[in-house]
Amino acid sequence: MLTKLPRRGRKGRARKSGEKRSVVDRPRKRKKVLNRIVENSFINRVSFEEYREKVRAVYDGPQGAVLSTCSFLSLHTLLGDRMLRKRKFDLRGCKQILDVGCGAGQISRHLVKYADPGAGVTCFDLSFGMVRRARRRINHQQFKARHAKGTTPGFVVADLTRLPFADESFDCITCGYVLEHLPDARLGLAELSRVLAPGGRMLLLTTEDNFGGAWTSRLWRCRTYNRHELAALCKELGLLWKKELWYTSMHKILRAGGICVEIQKE
Ligand SMILES: C[S@@+](CC[C@H](N)C(=O)[O-])C[C@H]1O[C@@H](n2cnc3c(N)ncnc32)[C@H](O)[C@@H]1O
Repeated sequence: MLTKLPRRGRKGRARKSGEKRSVVDRPRKRKKVLNRIVENSFINRVSFEEYREKVRAVYDGPQGAVLSTCSFLSLHTLLGDRMLRKRKFDLRGCKQILDVGCGAGQISRHLVKYADPGAGVTCFDLSFGMVRRARRRINHQQFKARHAKGTTPGFVVADLTRLPFADESFDCITCGYVLEHLPDARLGLAELSRVLAPGGRMLLLTTEDNFGGAWTSRLWRCRTYNRHELAALCKELGLLWKKELWYTSMHKILRAGGICVEIQKE
């Protein structure tokens, strides 16, 4: 007589029927050949110092100047706003929020709009040019008059791998499309874990290792991440993936928009 064996997770633990396999446990797929060909490899060919200088120069220059327009055209601005407005990532109750790699203030502006009145918002970026652009857009008279409700963000030029902030000083972090500018995610995630208070939450968005991600990497000379490997690394650093998010149901069906996840620090 045949007996049905229980299904097993990656580490051999028997899964109860109906139990969902966590993103960490799902089997990893090998990167498709075409994606490997398209993906930019500059980040792996030079030292981190050299790469970081290149990133700074790119964002200080003309490419950085058109970043907010690109985000507008790709609907990143609109859909990010919707995600926070609809509380898919809920900012209520957050007292000290850190926006990592704020760029031209694409996410920082949503934070000013949807955080609790009086919440502290700190925005930082490696590129001085981007910090200047973000500050200008947030302090724009019209935007300020309509949206700032006692929230005056602070701006800092800093490197994600060496943060000038004390341990556990934030209860919320947003990190949009910055991690892909590090050769090794651990360099940035370890710092984010250090400055995030226990129980604090993080909204992490990054480029995924699929065809769309490979093209993004070519355009911005960055890398891509494998969802399962990134989840496993986060877990190792005490950053648990609570909820995978998608901009819309269409993004979920098409697996588009990259990795977008709500994380909680243990
Ligand atoms: C694609 S933009 C993202 C902007 C914004 N967060 C968003 O979601 O649209 C990436 C930003 O990360 C910044 N960046 C790259 N490497 C960084 C690092 N090591 N530390 C801090 N910022 C970094 C770049 O200067 C750039 O402004």
